[in-house]
Amino acid sequence: MSLQHLLHINRERSQPLYQQIAEQIKMQISDGRLPVGTRLPTVRQLANTLGVTRLTVHSAYSELQSGGWVEATVGRGTFVAASAQPEGLMTAAGRNLTPDGVLDDMRRITQMIGLRSLAYADPDPMLYPMREFWDSMLSLRNDPAMFQYGSPQGDPVLRVEIAALLGEQGIEATPDEILITSGVSQGLALVCQALARPGDRVAVEQPTYLGLLHILQMHGIQAVGVPLDADGVQLQALERAIVEQKPRFFYTISRFHNPTGVCPSLERRRELLALAARHRLTVVEDDIYGLLSFDGPPPPPLKALDSENNVIHLTSMSKVLLPGIRVGSVIAPRPIHEQLLPLRRANDLVGAQLMQRAVADFLRRGRLKAHIRRTLPIYRERRDALMRALSYWMPDGVEWTQPAGGFCCWLTLPGDEALNDLYAAALSRGMVFTPGEVFLVEPDDCKHLRLCYANQSPDTIRESVAVLAELIRERIGHGAHRSKRDWVPLV
Ligand SMILES: Cc1ncc(COP(=O)(O)O)c(C=O)c1O
Repeated sequence: MSLQHLLHINRERSQPLYQQIAEQIKMQISDGRLPVGTRLPTVRQLANTLGVTRLTVHSAYSELQSGGWVEATVGRGTFVAASAQPEGLMTAAGRNLTPDGVLDDMRRITQMIGLRSLAYADPDPMLYPMREFWDSMLSLRNDPAMFQYGSPQGDPVLRVEIAALLGEQGIEATPDEILITSGVSQGLALVCQALARPGDRVAVEQPTYLGLLHILQMHGIQAVGVPLDADGVQLQALERAIVEQKPRFFYTISRFHNPTGVCPSLERRRELLALAARHRLTVVEDDIYGLLSFDGPPPPPLKALDSENNVIHLTSMSKVLLPGIRVGSVIAPRPIHEQLLPLRRANDLVGAQLMQRAVADFLRRGRLKAHIRRTLPIYRERRDALMRALSYWMPDGVEWTQPAGGFCCWLTLPGDEALNDLYAAALSRGMVFTPGEVFLVEPDDCKHLRLCYANQSPDTIRESVAVLAELIRERIGHGAHRSKRDWVPLV
């Protein structure tokens, strides 16, 4: 049957027609009904058959093209792209396990329908508080100031709200000490520009956030990896790195670390700060997951304990609210804050005023807290589902972290067996995780996996772990899975 006859559009639905068309074509590609190289009907043919305008079909094809699903060649037509199917991704991933390559894969993986993905440390889009956020946006619609250039330091009203939010976590900062950024990412890029030059070194946890490794690479800065244990960075190793490598700063994801989920105790936090103070080392604290604590109040951020004023604190709305709104904040010691301001101006002049004020309004109405109260139990249930599924399915010798918050769990596989085909094997079974090597400064032997649970239902998490465990068992040669004793299905 031709593609035209496989597509059904429904004018009653609120989803735009072009999206309905694009989604259905993606579905057909994902389940193999439209193999790589298949030529799609021309815009005119499909528009005529479906009774929609050519612009609608054109928009659908453009969306498919920008997502890497199809390729268009002038004069020849539009074809299903090799990169659109798991096999395409597998080759891409196998060849290109760099931060850039993996980030690129992720963009495509998100769009693959039917794929069980434990690959992203992102909040679940189904839980976005869309209506409430629109309320905040709409309340601003008649104010022309919202559409002008705002302050390079960020909306003063938002800075008041952020100061209050951070104050509740023990961080004392006036609105004037806060710089609003386009997410933690921009804050990290600015901090790198302020504190380091190409060729300099920066100490990072090993493993660490892939995006930071990417930023360092782009700025020609060398990362020095310092191992983590279950309570955070190993301080002796950090001290050795400080003495031998003279890093410009130490970057840490201080609460519910990405990719491991680790959250250091109060004692380890104090020791880290004392060590940093002894060596006059700036600590750059990425606290993006700090509010996502599942098992009671989390320990305070480092900045709240920072009596020596050595810590730069960064956080954003990306994990607790909406990643696409690009609102984050940086609090730095005064001389560094003064350096960051002109860098921000040179970088992109100002942030989007409308978005910043909408976030301020959302916070002022207490909606962030309400949203967190609503979503935490859901994320906790997913974390629990993952923990139980791992205990049930994984063969002996596989180890994993026990995240008390955030979105990430880190698996370590036993022995030195070649597991480098695990990513590709999982993809071909419709399941995806992030290979651990991309989070390591010095990649070792394909022994680690990051599993993120926030985005999937408990059922999907269980199915994914079952598939993964089977593939691991086949490779490490341990027959049986663990005892069923502690297996209690959640639903
Ligand atoms: C530790 C960490 N820092 C920063 C980011 C990116 O943050 P933002 O969206 O605020 O730029 C992420 C996103 O995954 C992250 O995990």
